[in-house]
Amino acid sequence: MDIFQPSGNMVIDIGGGTTDIAVLSMGDIVTSESIKLAGDKLDQEILQYIKRKYKLLIGDRTAEDIKVNIATVFPGNRNETIDIRGRDLVSGLPRTITIGSEEIEEALREQVALVVQAAKQVLENTPPELSADIIDRGVILTGGGALLDGLDQLMAEELKVPVFIAEEPMHCVAKGTGIMLENIDKIEKIG
Ligand SMILES: Nc1ncnc2c1ncn2[C@@H]1O[C@H](COP(=O)(O)OP(=O)(O)OP(=O)(O)O)[C@@H](O)[C@H]1O
Ligand SMILES: [Mg+2]
Repeated sequence: MDIFQPSGNMVIDIGGGTTDIAVLSMGDIVTSESIKLAGDKLDQEILQYIKRKYKLLIGDRTAEDIKVNIATVFPGNRNETIDIRGRDLVSGLPRTITIGSEEIEEALREQVALVVQAAKQVLENTPPELSADIIDRGVILTGGGALLDGLDQLMAEELKVPVFIAEEPMHCVAKGTGIMLENIDKIEKIG
């Protein structure tokens, strides 16, 4: 993505702790929003959902495994199940249950809607010529959260723009920093 051109580019970086949303143009941020809602919060939502519904306590790692392996945020996009082990809150003993993608979609719906809402807000605050560029070029999802199943489809449907997942979304920050250093002269000129 060439952010030094006068056209608008929109990026949504969903990490572990933070989601950063920005429209960039001419090497600068035009509009942006940062919310403390990302992958870790989604893991916690899964954990709480299973605790409430099944009276079963699972660990953070199990919650993340569920998110990576069977979760979807676009209803019907994925239909998988997983057996998970936890501690029964009533008996205190280990117990295994089987859960499916559909339930996890329900568990994540509310929080994911907040991320979509923040992205809408950024688009609404973007000058019209730049929004037109975003309609043409689409939005890029990056960060580990970009890999969340169905997020690209959901965002595309909600924002009414094309949405693409960056190549190797977990490595974009490292690669981008490298590119920035190679172009440090251009960046210094802008700053
Ligand atoms: N396949 C996947 N599906 C869904 N989420 C995933 C997947 N792979 C990684 N993640 C999530 O991505 C998050 C980590 O992403 P990333 O490495 O971009 O975060 P970070 O840059 O360390 O965090 P931050 O930007 O908040 O400081 C974790 O919550 C992880 O569970
Ligand atoms: Mg990050």
